Formats: sequence, C-alpha cells, structure tokens
Amino acid sequence: MKKEKIILTGDRPTGKLHVGHYVGSLKRRVELQNSGEFDKIFIMIADAQALTDNADNPEKVRQNIIEVALDYLSCGLDPAKSDLFIQSQIPELCELSFYYMNLVTVSRLQRNPTVKSEIQMRNFETSIPVGFFTYPISQAADITAFKATTVPVGEDQLPMLEQTKEIVRKFNSVYGDTLIEPEILLPDNKACLRLPGTDGKAKMSKSLNNCIYLSDTEKDVKTKIMGMYTDPNHIRIEDPGQVEGNTVFYYLDAFSKPEHFAEYLPEYNNLTELKEHYTRGGLGDVKVKKFLNSVMQEELGPIRARRAEFEKDIPEIYNILKKGSDVAREKAAATLSEVKSAMKINYFEDVELIKAQSEKYGNN
Ligand code: TRP
Repeated sequence: MKKEKIILTGDRPTGKLHVGHYVGSLKRRVELQNSGEFDKIFIMIADAQALTDNADNPEKVRQNIIEVALDYLSCGLDPAKSDLFIQSQIPELCELSFYYMNLVTVSRLQRNPTVKSEIQMRNFETSIPVGFFTYPISQAADITAFKATTVPVGEDQLPMLEQTKEIVRKFNSVYGDTLIEPEILLPDNKACLRLPGTDGKAKMSKSLNNCIYLSDTEKDVKTKIMGMYTDPNHIRIEDPGQVEGNTVFYYLDAFSKPEHFAEYLPEYNNLTELKEHYTRGGLGDVKVKKFLNSVMQEELGPIRARRAEFEKDIPEIYNILKKGSDVAREKAAATLSEVKSAMKINYFEDVELIKAQSEKYGNN
C-alpha cells in the first residue's frame, strides 16, 4: 500500500492570529489543502498546550478558540477538506504523552532552544511548570497520533520536530516499527520565516502592540502600516535609505508580487528596482508605505470579508470543531491502540499472554 500523506499542524489559542502566522504558515496550509496531494489534513487548536503556560487564565484560552477557528476559516481552510479540531477533546494525546515521557531525558528537554527562550520570555526561571517544560513531548504525541508525515510550521518549531523524530526513532527501536517520522515543511519564501512586528522588533506580540491581525479593519491595517518602523536615518526624501532592518521592506518581501507593481506602482518593474531607488535616495517612506498598504489590503480584504460571513453563525463554527474533533479522535484512538499493543500493555486483547500465564499456573 502506498504510504498515506498526512498533515498535522496547529496553533495555540492565546490570541487572534496575525499576518506573521499568515505568511509563516496559514497561507501555505491552504495551498497544501487545495493541492489535493494529501490524503488527510488535521488542523489543531492547541488549547491544552496553551494552558501549559496559562494555567491561571483558562478564560483567555477559551475565548480565543473561536477567534482562531474564525481566522482559519476566513483564510480558506475548508472543513470539507481539512479536519479542524480542539486538542483537549482528544484524551488519547495525554495517554501517548505519558508513555513518551519515558523515552526522553530531562537534560534533553533542557536543551530545547525554543523552550529555553520561552522560559526566559515568561520569566519562569526556577518556577517552570512541569507541563510547560514537557510540552515538546506532548507535541510529539500530537504529531504521531495522526501518523503525520508533513508538519507545516514556522522555523521556531524546528526543535519540536527534532524532538518528535527522536521519540519516534526511540519508540520504534524499543517497541518495534509503529510510529511515523514526520518532516517539517518551512515557508519557501525566506522573508516569511519570521516577519517582524510593525515597530521593527523581531517578534510580533500582543503585549508589544506591534501586530497586524487578520481580523483588523481596513482602517486599522492602514494606520499600522503608516506608523511602521523604517530606517531612522532616512529623514529627508533625498537621503539614501537602508533596506536592511527596514520593516516596510521586510513586509514587501513577504507580501508583494511583481504584478502588484503594474497595478499600484507602475514606475517600478519589481521590488529590486524599488529597493535600489530607496537605497540611492529620493524615495520617501510614505510612498513605499502606501504601496505596502495597497498590497496588503488586496490580500487581507477577502479574508476579512469571509470572516464577516462566518461570524454570522457562531454555533456552526462550534459544530465544525466538534465534527473535526470526532474524526481526529478516531484516528488518535487507532494509533494509541497500536502503541499499546507494541508496548504490550494491551492485556485483555493479548490472547498469547493469557494463554502463557494460564500454562504457568497449570490451567488447561
Ligand atoms: N507549538 C505550536 C505553537 O506554538 C502549536 C502546536 C501544538 C503544534 N502541537 C503542534 C504545531 C503539533 C504543529 C504540530 O503554535
């Protein structure tokens, strides 16, 4: 039988999704979904993972489930083609995590660079919740439960994929071939790997107030773009400008296509020419920002319009998530059952075991 191609990916519901999520992962997911190349696509709202560092704020997680679902649907994830589900509704994931924990050392988890930097960011220092510390293991459960072959995510998730592969190899070597080693799928446009915040800071974060959300109004998007961080030394139009470290150009790298020039800025053929003019001097920030605004509004407009439609029937969104969770649960349960039989902890189905034990005690 041909090996099935299966996608599993997801996001923590700790806020609305922003354009960084969009170019870094969401857009690609929709393309993959519509390519028809995959046998199954699972998209998970990772509420249980979100709780690993929001234990005292379950309401935040609860509120954001619907936001993330609306963002997914408005970007074009289609419940007829992809299963959208909620992580906590799949208890099999906890069971898998519990068994995988025996295959990972504390020092291995301590070396995970993403977890390391998250611990710093959250000032956990010596009070790291155990659940948070072990979330890479639970993420391995998420991925392997669905026998995912392909995990489209941003590059910050690379260490999680490495950890998952190690667990898969270890599991298969100890208990026999059962789990599938997944491949990470990073965005192919380098500019999409990490889109900076509108203030030029490396990370977009709600608390820094430097994100453009998929659900922002047209006016909000424009205001945020017009206020973007550029080259602080590019004061007069005639001054030569720096493209590196210039947020507006990072966004253009991620969003603009050659066609956009013909439509909105016909004096340039492409982004290279625009950058050259900026570097030379004589091109003002406002003109570049207006162009970026046209480009981004073109991309975000249809998403916003679809969101408005989906917002009209919220019970239906929960329905979609419920149906997706039912399908996901079935798949995870099948994998768990294979895992348990590989580990030989499926006592009641193990006819051989019962027979051997009865012989030992002289039953006949
Ligand atoms: N860690 C991901 C995030 O921060 C969410 C996530 C949880 C995930 N489990 C996953 C992503 C499995 C891909 C595969 O958004």
